[in-house]
Amino acid sequence: METKQQNRILNVWVNLCRFILGIVFVFSGFAKAVDPLGSKYKIQDYVDAFGLSSLMPDFFPLFLSIFLATFEFSMGGFLLFGIRKKTSTVLVFLMMLFMTPLTLYLAIKNPVSDCGCFGDLFILTNWQTFGKNIVLLIAAISCFIWRDRIIRLISEKSQWLIALYLISFGLILSLYCYRNLPILDFLPYKIGTNIPQSMSIPPNSKKSVYENIFILEKGGVKKEFSLENYPDSTWHFIDSRNVLKEKGYEPPIHDFSMNEMETGKDITDSVLSSKGYTFFLVAHRMEEADDNDIDLINEIYDYCVENGYGFYCLTSSLDSQIEQWKAKTGAEYPFCLTDDVTLKTIIRSNPGLILIKDGVILNKWHHSNLPDEYILSGKLDKLTIGRQKPVDDVRTIDWVVFWFAVPLFFVMGIDVLVIKRLDKKKKGRYLINPLINNKMRKNIVAGNWKMNKNLAEGLALAKELNEVLANEKPNCDVIIGTPFIHLASVATAIDTNKIGVAAQNCADKESGAYTGEVSAAMVASTGAKYVILGHSERRAYYHETLETLKDKVKLALANDLTPIFCIGEVLAEREAEKQNEVVLSQLAGSLYDLSAEDFSKIILAYEPVWAIGTGKTATAQQAQEIHAYIRSTIVEKYGKEVAENTSILYGGSCKASNAKELFANPDVDGGLIGGASLKVADFKGIIDAFNA
Ligand code: 13P
Repeated sequence: METKQQNRILNVWVNLCRFILGIVFVFSGFAKAVDPLGSKYKIQDYVDAFGLSSLMPDFFPLFLSIFLATFEFSMGGFLLFGIRKKTSTVLVFLMMLFMTPLTLYLAIKNPVSDCGCFGDLFILTNWQTFGKNIVLLIAAISCFIWRDRIIRLISEKSQWLIALYLISFGLILSLYCYRNLPILDFLPYKIGTNIPQSMSIPPNSKKSVYENIFILEKGGVKKEFSLENYPDSTWHFIDSRNVLKEKGYEPPIHDFSMNEMETGKDITDSVLSSKGYTFFLVAHRMEEADDNDIDLINEIYDYCVENGYGFYCLTSSLDSQIEQWKAKTGAEYPFCLTDDVTLKTIIRSNPGLILIKDGVILNKWHHSNLPDEYILSGKLDKLTIGRQKPVDDVRTIDWVVFWFAVPLFFVMGIDVLVIKRLDKKKKGRYLINPLINNKMRKNIVAGNWKMNKNLAEGLALAKELNEVLANEKPNCDVIIGTPFIHLASVATAIDTNKIGVAAQNCADKESGAYTGEVSAAMVASTGAKYVILGHSERRAYYHETLETLKDKVKLALANDLTPIFCIGEVLAEREAEKQNEVVLSQLAGSLYDLSAEDFSKIILAYEPVWAIGTGKTATAQQAQEIHAYIRSTIVEKYGKEVAENTSILYGGSCKASNAKELFANPDVDGGLIGGASLKVADFKGIIDAFNA
């Protein structure tokens, strides 16, 4: 059963989940956007590990990398701002539903050693990733199921602007970092790194421990042994392997080497220890390298030769591909072979250029921003680029946050100061105090006297209620539904500003020869402002159909009467669990072709037929479930705003003793009361349920 307390806890929970998911998605989208090539390489690893390379077009890994960065960043932003709730929660839920089992598979099989969720910014093991995804999946399910509870930080009117901004920001950042170098470098070859120092292992550091595993056979049975349990000579040796038992200290750079292409000679030490400037043209695969800037590269090489600086092209390509590159570009510089992964780690550009001096990385250039003759106008020690480029990650992050936040705060400011003021009706949709019940729709307690009380008795009852409420300010609207003959007298005898008067029916025809009928216009002429329509007793005993009710609703609205429209299932339908279907067909059959404007004038009353006059009440949970369902169908048909503003009353053996529990449900907005409306004390007890 959902009480107000539980309701609040649920609100807090859902919004906590939404913030956790939002922050993680923004963070992971940002990490990918900063280094789109890094994510591309990771995706390529996955494609290779799953043997899908032949099925995927070449552009796919890069496309997916930029798409994922933009998608994660914007979905995280949507969740944080509480905008486009349905789209964002469904997409995030689907993504987690796909990723969680996939990461379980990765954790078990380990085809790729780190998941790459957060690029190289934050590396998790595969099991850590799976654990993280379990938490995110729970959060995603919660947000998906209870998405209506996510508080929006921006009005519906302005949300498109924020959505567009978030998507553009993610996309532009990705493209910028792809066309230039990543704005933040999380890799071991950052500007300022002393390569030989980063390769050295301190003398007392922990060494890796390896173990020899032997595979032996005896009588057709193969078994693995270590040196400790090596068996007797009846076992025959088959194979052995070396297994890492304990990982020792690994220096930040542990895989850098350069071997001359022609001689195969390792020249790593001599190059790194040589004094002065050296350029590395890094092209992990010559066959894929961009050749738009070959003239500039050749000029830089000539500049190095003139000035006595080192220049090497580092690649992992085959000799034949290097020869092709030479033929195509006229390259005269020396080529060295280096590990492919190392080259991709050194610089996110193919080709890219780095400048080192005395083993220290001074600068890095994407191939689209190579230094030209105007920059290389003299000796390097006289030029700015000959000095280490200043890099300040904190400052960079500050700038990114600044440019991200300023336009957002600007839109939020306009939203709060202008749009909110212009549209007071939407007040309840902002973050004022979302955890208190600030719903816009009315709470209502309406009596349905049915066919009870003669004129005098009815008048007396109405007057007594009027008196009891005279000095009170109920926390709900109060309505009494009297037989036709009472309407005019009751409406004149009571304060209709405090107690609304309702008829219990009206005709489905405007006027004319319909003996015994009372038209909507006639009801309105008595001073009544409401009319109960579609009550189950009228459907059952007077055979009112969906169509006649549709006509009655239209006539009521045309005469400025507010319909209190009743729906509900019979016992057999409840037992067959068809209640949702039944109420939906009643709503769709009589109301759902109204315009949103007309529909928003209607009050609904859910009255399970099996609970009317039987003393059998729907439980608070049953009432809440079906009221929430009814509201969800209104959301689908007329949108969230109309749904949030529609009052849905519960009817069926509602009394002072159970009203409070029923009305405590977030989607139960009051009651339509039969038997208990015939005595003022009983009825007042129900009204008071809203005062508690
Ligand atoms: P009871 O409150 O008597 O069960 O009747 C409910 C009802 O039908 C109100 O319209």
